[in-house]
Amino acid sequence: MIKMTHSTTTISKKQNLSLFLIVFSAILLVANAKPATFLQDFRITWSDSHIKQLDGGRAIQLVLDQNSGCGFASKSQYLFGRVSMKIKLIPGDSAGTVTAFYMNSDTDQVRDELDFEFLGNRTGQPYSVQTNVYAHGKGDREQRVNLWFDPAADYHTYSILWNHHHVVFSVDEVPIRVYKNNEAKGVPFPKFQPMGVYSTLWEADDWATRGGLEKIDWNKAPFYAYYKDFDIEGCVVPGPRSCASNPSNWWEGSTYQQLDPVAARRYRWVRMNHMVYDYCTDKHRYPVTPPECVAGI
Ligand SMILES: *[C@@H]1O[C@H](CO)[C@@H](O)[C@H](O)[C@H]1NC(C)=O
Repeated sequence: MIKMTHSTTTISKKQNLSLFLIVFSAILLVANAKPATFLQDFRITWSDSHIKQLDGGRAIQLVLDQNSGCGFASKSQYLFGRVSMKIKLIPGDSAGTVTAFYMNSDTDQVRDELDFEFLGNRTGQPYSVQTNVYAHGKGDREQRVNLWFDPAADYHTYSILWNHHHVVFSVDEVPIRVYKNNEAKGVPFPKFQPMGVYSTLWEADDWATRGGLEKIDWNKAPFYAYYKDFDIEGCVVPGPRSCASNPSNWWEGSTYQQLDPVAARRYRWVRMNHMVYDYCTDKHRYPVTPPECVAGI
């Protein structure tokens, strides 16, 4: 009797253990599938000592102090795809600081670049997000929106979708900027050069906040920004040549070729309520409206 009970217990313990292992590895698989850890996709490009990995490399902390800012970049370059990450910006008095998240072709002559720049502000005043697009070496296409939430209170998702049809900058799935492929109308579109993914945190108090009037307050340093949930999906270059032109990549799919009605409505809402600067309507800078602005968004 005793022996039997004993062996029964053993079996059921074993069963429990294997059930536990199955469930546990399933959880691990899901956790490992996405998002990637920082070091899987990125490397530190500027000031090792100012970037700290958190949560086993699933998140990082960037530091800006009087000694240095810092930066990181993707290990690979990509030609079309979507990049997204969650960022929690510097809280409180962040005036004079800039946190950037961008893609760049790393080619000085004919630079392609897609920029998100978060411009800090004095306590209680809104952050601005500046976006810019360089295509074939030409930039100067700044737009700015104020965010409708406090981007320092929590993580929010910032993403860049880049396919043959357009580039869409989104904040929590809300498009804040669309740069259409208007090549047919003679407007350059980034299409030939792969781009890397970059981020930096630095001091730019000569221009960032209220045009440089608000200076950084070093008494508030160090300044911290946090990143997590790194997700890059795209064609790695160098890689299989056919990848970038493959229409079956999900980011080229019909639902990603233009904004769907919900996204289009959100985009109009941002432009009507949160746009604070648009180079398209800056007559002082552009007496002649740039062609991409005329071609329509
Ligand atoms: C900072 O706050 C001021 C005052 O509300 C505002 O005019 C400005 O657009 C904000 N953002 C920046 C980056 O200066």
